[in-house]
Amino acid sequence: MDVSPEKTVSNAIDEVLSRLDHGTKAKMDITVTKAMLTTMVREAHVLQYKSALHELTEHLKERGVDTAAMEGSTSMFLEKVRFMQATALREFTADDHGKSSSEKTVCEVGFNAGHSALLWLLAGATRVVSFELGQHSYSHVAAEWLSVRFPGKLHLVMGDSMQSVPLYHTMFPDEKCNIVFIDGGHKFEHAKSDMLNFRKFVELSPSASLGHILLVDDTNMPEVGAAWAQAQAEGTVVEVGMVLSHCATAYNTPFSGSLHWNGNLFSETSESIRPYWAGSLSFGRYLP
Ligand SMILES: C[S@@+](CC[C@H](N)C(=O)[O-])C[C@H]1O[C@@H](n2cnc3c(N)ncnc32)[C@H](O)[C@@H]1O
Repeated sequence: MDVSPEKTVSNAIDEVLSRLDHGTKAKMDITVTKAMLTTMVREAHVLQYKSALHELTEHLKERGVDTAAMEGSTSMFLEKVRFMQATALREFTADDHGKSSSEKTVCEVGFNAGHSALLWLLAGATRVVSFELGQHSYSHVAAEWLSVRFPGKLHLVMGDSMQSVPLYHTMFPDEKCNIVFIDGGHKFEHAKSDMLNFRKFVELSPSASLGHILLVDDTNMPEVGAAWAQAQAEGTVVEVGMVLSHCATAYNTPFSGSLHWNGNLFSETSESIRPYWAGSLSFGRYLP
């Protein structure tokens, strides 16, 4: 985690400025410059995440985990990573939303190897409550690693989310989530019950910009997509948009080694993605 976004941005600015002549520098448009800096900061977060993922992967390997055989994660999808980070950075720095700084909670289903939990924590979450079935022994190793790096911020709840999420709510009825991320069981009944059960964990507001954001991964998968469509048809949720993203080549090198700066965004080299395999992440909110 030694590549800080600030350092990366500072290096990138130096590189851009070195390419400009004196006249161009004098005429620089402040709006364009601000947009460029915002892009750089966002991309620096991508690099910081990549570096942290590498450390986590090395730790898992040292502990005997075959990382190439692990279940998939959102970290294999560069556009999903970008979107999730941008969402968290926006939610967690949006003081004008009237949130206190102590309210930076992400609730997710599907911990797996902790890749999405790591993304949320690096992006400023003060609390990640992650519900996980517990079928992979490496989840415990990853959780231990995250708990050392982010003390007191990760709360892993083991068990089938169809039971554990409602039970958790009865135990902690005041728990509220700023971001809900559903990425657990991909059967219709799992996805649907996760969508319904998390409604009790959010502030419901008629305004689209207040309260919470709901993310549902893998809506390209037929049963998850059907659950998402049914939740919309029933008026439980509203979709705001969808991110379509290509998959990186290898599980244990999530989009890494293949990112390059093209002067605007980091992009994946064409050989690092499988053009025939793209996944979607849908986002929206719960309706009051
Ligand atoms: C695709 S992985 C999650 C990836 C993770 N969110 C990430 O992006 O790094 C799905 C995870 O959901 C878990 N899972 C599957 N069915 C579940 C259930 N009924 N309740 C809780 N977790 C479940 C699996 O064990 C697996 O770890």
